[in-house]
Order: sequence, then structure tokens, then C-alpha cells
Amino acid sequence: MRIPTPLVAACLSLVLAGTASAAQDLKIGMILPMTGPFAGHGQELENGAKLYMQQHGDTVAGRKIRLIIKDDTGIAPAISKRQAQTLLIQDKVDILAGFGMTPSAFAVAPLASETKTAMVVMNAATSSITTQSPYIIRTSMTLPQVTAPIAAWAAKNGIRTVYSITADYGPGHDAETQFIKTFTAAGGKMIGSVRTPTQNPDFAPFLQKAKDLHPDAVFLFVPAGEQGVAAVKAYKERGLDKAGIKLIATGDIDSEDVIGAIGDAALGLITSFHYSDAHDSPENHQFVTAYAKSYPGQRPNFWSVGGYDGMHVIYEALKKTGGNANGDALLEASKGMKWMSPRGPVEIDPQTRDIIQNVYIRRVEKIDGVLKNVEFDKIEAVKDPGKA
Ligand code: PHB
Repeated sequence: MRIPTPLVAACLSLVLAGTASAAQDLKIGMILPMTGPFAGHGQELENGAKLYMQQHGDTVAGRKIRLIIKDDTGIAPAISKRQAQTLLIQDKVDILAGFGMTPSAFAVAPLASETKTAMVVMNAATSSITTQSPYIIRTSMTLPQVTAPIAAWAAKNGIRTVYSITADYGPGHDAETQFIKTFTAAGGKMIGSVRTPTQNPDFAPFLQKAKDLHPDAVFLFVPAGEQGVAAVKAYKERGLDKAGIKLIATGDIDSEDVIGAIGDAALGLITSFHYSDAHDSPENHQFVTAYAKSYPGQRPNFWSVGGYDGMHVIYEALKKTGGNANGDALLEASKGMKWMSPRGPVEIDPQTRDIIQNVYIRRVEKIDGVLKNVEFDKIEAVKDPGKA
């Protein structure tokens, strides 16, 4: 029997369409610093994302999730942009994710807009990033969000004068601006501020200047990791503590990956932040235990939780859209999403697409021989004040 050709063609295209949609992997292109000074952090974020996938399976709404990781080496916007182009054009990814450093998120935002691709920022923390494209959602923090609480705490706790030292790029500028705004509004007085180079800064001269000016406290922001170790050590070596000058900072300075390397010099340090592995909740205990099991000898930090929660938003949004990864659909599904993170209760602000979360004031203590950021106060449901 001869089947008419148009019918064959119609059947064939139906079969092909069916196979394509059933079998099509959903690709997430993740851009992270996997080499260079922030390589450890790229790894921590990837670890968090992969832990979420281990716990929740690699198939969502019938689509198998594939992560494709690309290295942007750190603060290198041209490389981030090139990696995003490769991911979009060659790999044909459905979603862009990761983004450790602010310049990387800024460089890629226009591509997310042009291609209408959802872009999940899992660390980069300059407030204005989410204004760069309507396709951006952020699951980390903003610097104004974590800075305002320590400025308010300082003013309430007998610190009347402050000298500020912050890294000279987006998040540092945000930290400096918000600190000055909140601290002076609460009656505090700034006696100066200085910005440090982003690459390998030598903190000694900046801290010496602070010592000479003798404020009640120095406020510090450094972009995570090795710089935190260097800054706290220089503060001690220059004798600022002995001169009665306190050190206050956002929790970037003493995250779980470096607090051990800072050592006892960190004891008593007061910081404000959205995540500590010492956060006391069932969700966090489970997260910390699972992380240590999958990555022996490592502690999760804010990069890990940013990756873990970023995957949560992607999974839950895909469930709502029935596996449709269209950027507009995913964004609609993500806005207003609420869940219990290892850090506490969180929500994606439907207006700004930034995360609303508790910010905790913490003190470094030694518990069973391990240095930890122990939370002793919290400010609930903090929205990014940088856009107010
Ligand atoms: C950023 O580049 O946005 C960034 C990097 C590291 C941090 C905070 C912000 O600890």
C-alpha cells in the first residue's frame, strides 16, 4: 500500500517534535571564576549548585538538567562576555547562571536582554546589577543590604567615629555609601574613607592611616577570601586592636573558607551577613552535614548557599512553567517566590528581583576548637536599601 507523501511528512514531523521535546536536555550555562584569585569561590558555588541537584534529582518537569561551567578567571568582564556568547550561541543554553564578581554580571546583562534569557546571579552583589536587565534574578545578597545592619549596630553600641576602607569597585562603593548613610543618620561621624585596589592590596598603609586618625572603629569591605585573611592580619600587626580601634565588617571578610586561616586573630570580630554555617536551624544543620559529606573537609559559605538557592529558584520556576525555560516565563514564575533557605526565610522581591532575607549580626567564637560566626542578633526580611 502506498501512503500519500504529505501524510508521511506530517507523521514524521509529529514524531520528531515529540522526541525533541521529551528528550531535550535543559542546559544551564554557569559562568564562574574557576581559576585565579577567586577560584576557590567558584568551586564553592558550583558545589552548592551540585549539592542541590544531588538532593533533588537531575530531572525537573520532564527535562534533564545539564550544567555547563565556564571559567571567567575573576574580575575580567571581557572574558565573562565571551563565555556567555559561547554558551548562548554554541551550547545553546536555556539559562545563564553563576556570576561570582560584579564586573562579570554587568558584562553579560545586555546579552540576557537581547536573547531574553533568564540570568540567575548567584553571588555578584553590587545593588544595581538587577537593574541592568529585566531577565536577572539574584539569590545572593546586595552590599547595601548586609552593610546597613552593621552601621546601625555600630551607632547603637558606643561607636561614635569610623574610618572606612573598602575595595575600589562596585560592591565596595556600595558598602562605603551605605555605611556612611546609615551610620551618620544614626548620629555617627565619619572621619575618612579610602578605597583599596581590587587585586592583591597591601592593607598595611591604609590601616596605618586609620590608626593615626584614631577612630572608634574601622569598617572594612573586601571581596571575600584571601583579602580577608590579609586585612585582619594587618589590623592586628599594625596594633589597631591594642590602640582600642575596633574592626567591623560585612561577613565577606571572614567566610567559612578563610576563618581558619585568619586564626585566633578573628576572635571577637563583629560582622553582619546573611549566611553563617553556624546558623541554628534544621534546614542549615541538614545543609552543613550534607555539604561536608559530599565535599569532605569543606564548610559551606555564602557562595555555596547562593548556588544552592539559585538552583532552588530554577527548579521551582521550571515546575511552575511545566519545563518551559523561556526567559519571560521563568522570570514571572520566580517573582515573589518564597522558601526556607539554609540561611533562614527568603523571598524574591517581585519588584526588584533581588532577594529579601534576614541579616544577622555575628561574633567570632571558638566552638569545640573551630572558629565560627555565631549569630547574636537579626534584622528580619531586609530588602535591598540600595534601590530605595
Ligand atoms: C562582587 O564582585 O560582587 C563580590 C565579590 C565578592 C564578595 C562580594 C561581592 O565577597
